[in-house]
Order: sequence, then C-alpha cells, then structure tokens
Amino acid sequence: MAEEIIRSNQSGEVTMRIWRGDEEGGEFAEYVMPAQEGEVVLDVIHRVQASEAPDLACRWNCKAGKCGSCSAEINGRPSLMCMTRMDTLPPGETVTVAPMRAFPVIRDLVTDVSYNYEVAKRIPPLSAREKTPDEVEAGGYRMAQIDVERSQEFRKCIECFLCQDVCHVVRDHEENKTAYAGPRFFIRSAELEMHPLDTNDRRQLLQENQGLGKCNITKCCTEVCPEHIKITDNAIIPLKERVVDAKYDPVAWLGRKIRTRSKRSAADAAALAPSQGPAAVLPPGGVHGIPQPHGQGGPVLAGSVPNAPVAPGQSVEEDAPE
Ligand code: SF4
Ligand code: SF4
Ligand code: FES
Repeated sequence: MAEEIIRSNQSGEVTMRIWRGDEEGGEFAEYVMPAQEGEVVLDVIHRVQASEAPDLACRWNCKAGKCGSCSAEINGRPSLMCMTRMDTLPPGETVTVAPMRAFPVIRDLVTDVSYNYEVAKRIPPLSAREKTPDEVEAGGYRMAQIDVERSQEFRKCIECFLCQDVCHVVRDHEENKTAYAGPRFFIRSAELEMHPLDTNDRRQLLQENQGLGKCNITKCCTEVCPEHIKITDNAIIPLKERVVDAKYDPVAWLGRKIRTRSKRSAADAAALAPSQGPAAVLPPGGVHGIPQPHGQGGPVLAGSVPNAPVAPGQSVEEDAPE
C-alpha cells in the first residue's frame, strides 16, 4: 500500500518539525509537505527549501552516505539525513529534524564541527619503521595481510561525527572537550596503533590527554555509525587493554625492559603531531564552543594542565609497574 510505504498521514502529507535558528537561539518550525514515495529525509528538507523556506540552511554533498556532511538528529537520533528513509519513520507522526547537539550551531541544521579538526591535529601520525635489508632490496615493505586488515575497518570512516555527537562524555559535558578525543579519534589512534609498520606509542597520550578512561563502553557510538564500524569492540576496548598493559601489567613491563625498544615514546610521538606539543585537544586560540579553562586563549602546553603529558624523554616503557 502506498500509504504504508510513504508513511504519510491519512491526507497524504508529512509534517516536518525543523529547528530554525542560529548561535543566539531558535525554535522548531513546522512544515507540512505532500508525501512522496521513496524519499529520504534530505529529499523532504530540499522540498521545504524549494517551496516554504528558501533560507533553511542544511549541509550536504553526496546524497549517498559517503561525504559525512548531512549529519543531524532525526527524531532525536544522530543520523545521516540522506540515508534515513521516510518509510522507516513512524507512520503518520511528525518528523523532528534538529542540528547535532554536541556542536555549536551556525544556522538551522548546520553546526560548527571544527572541534573535531582540532582533535585530529593532536593525533601523532604514522611513523613507519626502517626497511629491513630484504625490504630495501625488494623495494617496499613486507606486511602480513592479517596485520593490514586489522586497521582497514577504521578506514571506512566518513567523518560524519555522529559518534562524536552521541557520545555522552562531550554531549552532556562541554567542559570535557578540552581533554577528550572521542570515538572517531579513538578509531584513528587504534588504526595507527595496530598498523604493522608504525613506531609511535600513543598509549600515554590516550590515557592522560585524550580521555580514553572517560569512555565507559556504552556502545552508543557503535550504534549510530553509518559505516557499521565496531568502534567500541574493535578500537576502544583494544586500546584500553593496551593502556592497561603498558601501565599495570608487570609481565608486559618486564618484557619491554628486556626487549629492544621498538616504539617511540608518547612525548616523542606527540611531538610529531602537526600541532604544538603533546597537549590534549585544546586548539591554539580555541574554537567556537570550546571553553578555555586554562588561561585566556593561548595554547595549553605540556605541564600546564592537570595530568600533563610525559616529560620529554620519559616513556611508558620507563614507568615502573604499579
Ligand atoms: S562507548 Fe565510549 S566513546 Fe562510544 S559513546 Fe559510549 S562513552 Fe562515548
Ligand atoms: S566512526 Fe562512524 S560515526 Fe564516527 S565519524 Fe566515522 S563514520 Fe561517522
Ligand atoms: S549528503 Fe553525503 S553523507 Fe549525506
């Protein structure tokens, strides 16, 4: 039945309740549109723009679930507007579309996600080991396929930031943004930590500066990920295990003492990140919506925050087990 497919009310209409406003404030406005078969939420938003509200702001690019631009909260759930079919929403009920709550609103459905770009700058990049003589002769690195595949899952991320939006650590606590990387960047760190060639050690940064311990594994991030990345099971939990190994496992500690050290320390790794120093995630100068609790707008440098990062030269391997 067409009525069931398009999920309209009995008069063949859909009621869209869309948040309108800017950083000063706003409110929901209702738009009643003719229902059309086979549409996604973004289609209806575009029809609202075309007919009722030409000044309605929304961000989109691909309409194929691949650019990560059209993130919003549909009936309270962080979702891609272009991948949410109207026929999956409760039939006959008003559809509520709001901007992502964890980020400052620019206008209507468009939010300022620059917090995420600032966090990204603080992740120490891949630092590949030296080639072995065999590899030099062969002209490239040799890696086992199984090792390569471990981190491939995380490369599917489209940076929609829905996981960042749903994570209660920043969603309900703006103040945590200064020291919390969030699920998208935990998978980035996991991808690099699990890379068979990488020599950086990000464990201490994750623990002391990027708030890995604040994640209590609720799996909300995994539930909203449109790429179905198992963020919690495959990235966050293994990272937590690595951090615990580094700090508390006496056998692992002894093993590292005996073994030739192959990983670059947290401080050295952080120094490789494009931005200044190993400070957590607070951007130099700050960005809109991120409070600056330590000082008046300058960068937070190593040693100026509680639980400041390791001193230069100190590494996880050099810690005695506790
Ligand atoms: S599992 Fe952790 S990172 Fe994911 S939403 Fe929950 S607290 Fe946030
Ligand atoms: S991990 Fe998933 S939810 Fe998070 S930014 Fe990437 S694609 Fe989006
Ligand atoms: S428009 Fe590209 S993901 Fe929705």
